[in-house]
Amino acid sequence: RITSAPEGSMIRVAEKQMELAFERREIREQQQKNLKGNMSLTSTVWTEDTVNRLDQVNQRSSQHLQEWKLLSMSGSIGKPSSTNSISEQRQSLPIYKLRNELIKSIIDNQILIVIGETGSGKTTQITQYLAESGLSEKGIIGCTQPRRVAAISVAKRVAEEVGCNVGQEVGYCIRFEDRTSKDTSVKYMTDGMLLRESLLDPNLSSYSVIMLDEAHERNLHTDVLFALLKKVCERRKDLKLIVTSATLDAEKFSTYFFECPIFTIPGRTFPVDIFYLKTLEADYLSAAIETVIKIHLSQPKGDILLFLTGQEEIDTACQKLFEYMRNLEGDVPELRILPIYSALPSEVQSQIFIPTPPGCRKCVVATNIAETSITIDGIFYVVDPGFVKQNCYNAKTGIDSLIVVPISQAAARQRAGRAGRIGPGKCYRLYTESCFQNEMLPSSVPEIQRTNLGNTVLTLKAMGINDLMAFDFMDPPSSQSLVSAMERLHALGALDEEGLLTRLGRKMAEFPLEPQMSKTLIASADLRCSDEVLTIMSMLSVSSIFYRPREKQDQADRKKAMFFQPEGDHLMLLNVFEAWRNSNYSNTWCFEHFIQARSMKRVLEIRKQLLTIMDRYKLDVVSCGKNYTLIRKAICSGYFAHACRKDLQEGYCTLVDNQSVYIHPGSSLFQKNPGWILYHTLIMTSKEYARDVMTVEPKWLYELAPNFYKKANPERGSKKKRAEKIEPLYNKYAEKDEWRISKRKRMK
Ligand code: CDP
Ligand code: MG
Repeated sequence: RITSAPEGSMIRVAEKQMELAFERREIREQQQKNLKGNMSLTSTVWTEDTVNRLDQVNQRSSQHLQEWKLLSMSGSIGKPSSTNSISEQRQSLPIYKLRNELIKSIIDNQILIVIGETGSGKTTQITQYLAESGLSEKGIIGCTQPRRVAAISVAKRVAEEVGCNVGQEVGYCIRFEDRTSKDTSVKYMTDGMLLRESLLDPNLSSYSVIMLDEAHERNLHTDVLFALLKKVCERRKDLKLIVTSATLDAEKFSTYFFECPIFTIPGRTFPVDIFYLKTLEADYLSAAIETVIKIHLSQPKGDILLFLTGQEEIDTACQKLFEYMRNLEGDVPELRILPIYSALPSEVQSQIFIPTPPGCRKCVVATNIAETSITIDGIFYVVDPGFVKQNCYNAKTGIDSLIVVPISQAAARQRAGRAGRIGPGKCYRLYTESCFQNEMLPSSVPEIQRTNLGNTVLTLKAMGINDLMAFDFMDPPSSQSLVSAMERLHALGALDEEGLLTRLGRKMAEFPLEPQMSKTLIASADLRCSDEVLTIMSMLSVSSIFYRPREKQDQADRKKAMFFQPEGDHLMLLNVFEAWRNSNYSNTWCFEHFIQARSMKRVLEIRKQLLTIMDRYKLDVVSCGKNYTLIRKAICSGYFAHACRKDLQEGYCTLVDNQSVYIHPGSSLFQKNPGWILYHTLIMTSKEYARDVMTVEPKWLYELAPNFYKKANPERGSKKKRAEKIEPLYNKYAEKDEWRISKRKRMK
């Protein structure tokens, strides 16, 4: 079935994708076999093993896809047929008829909940209405978005409507990128950025209005902002707060925000026919692709929106669809396949907004970013496999993982609704009606109840909020996850015995990074090796530095081995970066050494951004030359919780919970088997692999993390054992249940 086309040709790229697709199918089928036909919606959730094996296959495919994307994007896509002027477009939005009424409600009330269908104009219009009616003279009109892509794309759109460049009257601000100026009166930003701003200015005094957009998404940062802004509104009666939502959480929001009024924008929606599967399909990706093709070949005109869980899956689906269409015989109308996910460059993203010419159909393949954040006109058909990728945190082990889970009923309704914006639509649900009724939660679990709270706790503590149990969360996180976050912060030295912020903790809170990484950077300045540590942290922030094509694996591995260091992968990464720097950042050098040039450019960018932060907080950036011990100590003082000791039989076990782990075959230390190691990440495939591993001296652990490790009782075990034995001190606060997490609780 597969012929070999010339290397680098478009057909070859497609062929490779097919090969990878077969491999993927095998992995899926194997999983299905393991489930022994005992199928339900929750059991089709892949085990982590499957997800990781798929991820590996997907990583290999993304290189080829780059090539494909360039080809498929170039040339074939027409100019936007801008029949309506911008002002006509603005006036045709459902919100326009309510403009004056809405402005009046905002002026009359300090807090207002606004609900309306997605696409009614909330995000792009409300800020403009307020600016037009003079509210921007008293301060900036800020609007938060849960996603970076949405913040950028909306700011661009609004700047276009206003007739300015992004960064003038209309701007945006996301982590590491501030496109605002002193002229900016309408500012879109991620919720995380507003949270950081409120750390520096708790009253948010530069703002006259804050709109918490997409509040129904219940992002971690949005949830924290709910509580903070509620307090700001009590202190600053001149601040206006608007909370927008697309779904039916309005009553709950209103109750929480002092019974404030709810403003409803009547929707312009049409009925959507829902189709369910009679029996579940083993492979939703194939089912989704077949459904799209069937719609294209049998249904009247109208664009298609397919929801998938992530970048790799979307790239695969696009490639398969593309391939499928290419192989269809006869006079088949064109199907334009357009991916959308946050990592896509914005020029490519904006392609999805270009209307399709007559005789041609568009199929947008999106993550749940298209559920509410982004509205694409012309969608009549929605294909919903019913899954989403979610971040889940295990408070006990402290491990974060991304897993694929079924969506909620609310999300399923929202997805279906995307088909009924312009006329009656159809939604194809790739699950059974019984799955929808019995296996899906009515609404999604807010992120705050399923995520690592380390950063949030640190930020709140830095704002002087100590009693987190009494903090006014709309839906509080479990006390276990709060305690676990505090334990880890205490171990890092960010909190003291009482749970109060230390000076180190204050400094750490200033960094827009995970606490372990900010601790490492601060420690590296003290240890005078920050130049090297900055590089290593930047390298670790980018995945896929090394390129390992299937047909040249041995060659690639040999090249990689040239960079190996006896101290481990962190220093190997440093070695790679320095060699690249010595080549004057050459792309040819990257190519020759099987290094991904694109990833290296990104490293350089991140490094620059981290450097600015170091400068801002007056942390010296100094080089330690070849004194690798200092570097390892700095890393150990942030990541000590990831230490493992060599097991008696084989592999390693983590000090925190005695879990077996193995050094990844791609590591400098594979088969070297040093006695003590520290990993950067754990990945779970067939075994639990520690990736990016470094050697450590056991005594550093209790020297650098005395709040976390102690030497074992000298009375126990043999002399040799005693010298080596180190025990974690965890559960310290869980035992002292009267700890400072709740003053209120203590008084009871
Ligand atoms: O926030 P809401 O979902 O209520 O609507 P919106 O995002 O303000 O979108 C209003 C209109 O602007 C829609 O018809 C979108 O198609 C259009 N829009 C756009 O063309 N480009 C964007 N980047 C965002 C919105
Ligand atoms: Mg919106």
